[in-house]
Amino acid sequence: MGKVAVAAAAVGAAAACAVAAIVVRQRMKSAGRWAKAAAMVKELEEKCATPSGKLRHVADAMAVEMHAGLASEGGSKLKMIISYVDNLPTGDEEGMFYALDLGGTNFRVLRVRLGGREGQVVKQEFVEVAIPPHLMVGSSSELFDYIASELAKFVATEDEDLRPPPGRQRELGFTFSFPVRQTSISSGTLIKWTKGFSIEDTVGQDVVSALTSAFERQGLDMHVSALVNDTIGTLAGGRYGDKDVVAAVILGTGTNAAYVEQANAIPKWLGPPPKSGEMVINMEWGNFRSSHLPTTEFDEALDIESLNPGEQIFEKMISGMYLGDIVRRVLLKMANEASLFGDSVPPKLEIPFILRTPNMSAMHHDSSSDLRIVGATLKDILGITNTSLKTRKLVIGVCDVVARRGARLAAAGVVGILKKIGRDSSPKDGGEVPRTVVAMDGGLFEHYTLFRSCFEDTLKELLPEDLSSSVVVIQANDGSGLGAALLAASYSHYLHSDS
Ligand code: BGC
Repeated sequence: MGKVAVAAAAVGAAAACAVAAIVVRQRMKSAGRWAKAAAMVKELEEKCATPSGKLRHVADAMAVEMHAGLASEGGSKLKMIISYVDNLPTGDEEGMFYALDLGGTNFRVLRVRLGGREGQVVKQEFVEVAIPPHLMVGSSSELFDYIASELAKFVATEDEDLRPPPGRQRELGFTFSFPVRQTSISSGTLIKWTKGFSIEDTVGQDVVSALTSAFERQGLDMHVSALVNDTIGTLAGGRYGDKDVVAAVILGTGTNAAYVEQANAIPKWLGPPPKSGEMVINMEWGNFRSSHLPTTEFDEALDIESLNPGEQIFEKMISGMYLGDIVRRVLLKMANEASLFGDSVPPKLEIPFILRTPNMSAMHHDSSSDLRIVGATLKDILGITNTSLKTRKLVIGVCDVVARRGARLAAAGVVGILKKIGRDSSPKDGGEVPRTVVAMDGGLFEHYTLFRSCFEDTLKELLPEDLSSSVVVIQANDGSGLGAALLAASYSHYLHSDS
C-alpha cells in the first residue's frame, strides 16, 4: 500500500470512529433522556399515590368537614347549602314542564310531559346549545339574554295542544350548577363562579331575577318554579326512578355532591326546618381540601394560574375541566427536563387547557399495538410529530396516574358521605342492610370508561365486603334536567292555587 493509500485509510478509520462516537454519544444521550423521563413518571406516580389508608383519611376528613359545615356558617370549606328540597319526586307528578340546565360548556333546554303514576315520563324533548366562550366572561344580561332567546326558539316548537291555558304561565326548573346561597326553592344568590365562568356583575345577585328579567326582555312567558344545583336535579331525577337514591355525584366539567340529610341534623341557622323528615343538601364538595390530598407541584401551578386561585382544590384534582391540563403540565416538564419530544420544547405544549380531558381519555383508552391514537392526538393537538412507541407509552403512563388519582379521590369522597349518613357499615343492631343508591351524572363519568371503572372498583375496595351489593352506583343520564322539571312540578306555583 502506498503512502497516500495508508493516509486515506487512516482518515477513513478516524472518520468512522468519530461517527461511531457520535452514535454512541447520541445513544447515551437518548438512554439518559429515557431514564430521566421514566424516573419522572415514577416520581409523579409516587406523589399521586392513593393507597387505601390514605383514601380512608380523605373519607374521614370529608365526613368531618360535612359536620363542620353544618355546625356553623363558614365552619368548613364545604358550603353545605340547604336546597329547600324537602319533597323529592314521588312519581305522581303530572303536566308539562320546562327545564334549563346551565353549568358547563353547553346548556340544555328540555320539555317534559309527566303523566303521573301511570304515565311517568310521557315525552321528553331537548336541545343542547354550546355557550359561546365570550359569554362566559361577559355580563350577566348578555349570557341570560342569549339563553332566553334560545329557550324562546325551543318553546316555539311546542305542540299547539300542549300550550298552557290562558292566564297560566309555563313553568321551568332552572338547574344552575354553581354555588348558590338558596333563599327559597325558587330564588338564590350566586356565591361565586367556577369552571371557567367569571361574570362579576352576577356574584351576590339573585340568579332567578336575572333570568326572569332576560325572559321579559325576550318576551318569554315563563315562571321559574325551582332553582336547583345539578346535584340536586340529579338526586331528584334519580329518586324518581329509584326510591333508594340518597345521594348524587356529578363528575363532569366540575364536580360536586348532594345528599339527603335527616331533619334533626339541620341546624336552625341553615334555613327553615324541612316540612318532611328530610332535606337535600348541596355540599359543594369541589371546594373540599385536606392535608391528606396528594397534591403536586402541577396542581399548585394550575391553581395559582386559574381564575379562582385557592378555591375548588378537590375539583381541580378530579374533574373534567382540569385533568387534561394536569397531564399537559407534566408533559411540559418532561419536555423541558428530559427532552421527551426532542431537543426543543413543542410550543403548543405551553398553551393552557389546549389538551382537553376528552383528548386525554382518547389516548388513555388507546389499545392499538402502535398506540396510533396517542400519536395522532400528540400530533393534531400539540403539533408533536414522529413520536416513538416508547414516548407514547410514557404519555399513557402520565394519563393513567392522573386519572387514577382523580377517580380514587372521588370514590373516597362518596365513602365520606356514606359515613356521614351511617351507610358505610352494616346496621349495628344486626338488622337488614338497607339498599343505598348513589346517582351519578356528568360527562367524565359517562365517557371516560377507565376513570369510571377505577371509581367503581375503589368504592368496593373502601367499603366492607358485606355492603358491596347493597351500595349501588347508577348512572342518571341527564338526570339533572329531568330532575329540575320534576321539581318544578313538585313545587309548582299553581299547586296550591289549583286545589
Ligand atoms: C359547581 C357546582 C356544580 C359542579 C358540577 C362545580 O364547579 O361549583 O355547583 O354542582 O361544578 O357541575
